[in-house]
Amino acid sequence: MKLSAWALVISIIAMAGQPLRADERGDPERGLAVARQVCSECHAIQAQQLQSPQARAPTFLALATTPGMTATALSVALTTPHAGMPMFRLTAEQRDGIIAYILSLKQSGSPPGK
Ligand code: HEC
Repeated sequence: MKLSAWALVISIIAMAGQPLRADERGDPERGLAVARQVCSECHAIQAQQLQSPQARAPTFLALATTPGMTATALSVALTTPHAGMPMFRLTAEQRDGIIAYILSLKQSGSPPGK
């Protein structure tokens, strides 16, 4: 095997090893950091924020408390372009982090009672 092939094998092994080291379900703190950069322009990303900067964008708390909302549904939403928004490129890790963060809002905050 040539050296470059080995490098490829090693990097594949290294990548495959990552989920074992990292938090299996995504890191919500990292997700929040990414969401601040990428999503907060349009979405209310924190439980205390009652209104999204862009009125049509659901708040993350609303997403989290949507009945039947699951990591799978969020994952689909994040890998398909959504209305009026440029497709963002997230690594799988960033995506998992954001998903973990959104779902964590469900436990931490009850929907703000109006
Ligand atoms: C440019 C503004 C904008 C940005 C940036 C943005 N969104 Fe959205 N998002 C929207 C709007 C508007 C909607 C409502 C879209 C619709 O009705 O189809 C939405 C809807 C959603 C939905 C629900 C989708 C569905 O299919 O029901 C999810 C989940 C979501 N956004 C997550 C995110 C996440 C996570 C980020 C950051 C990685 C993000 N959005 C960044 C504007 C934005």
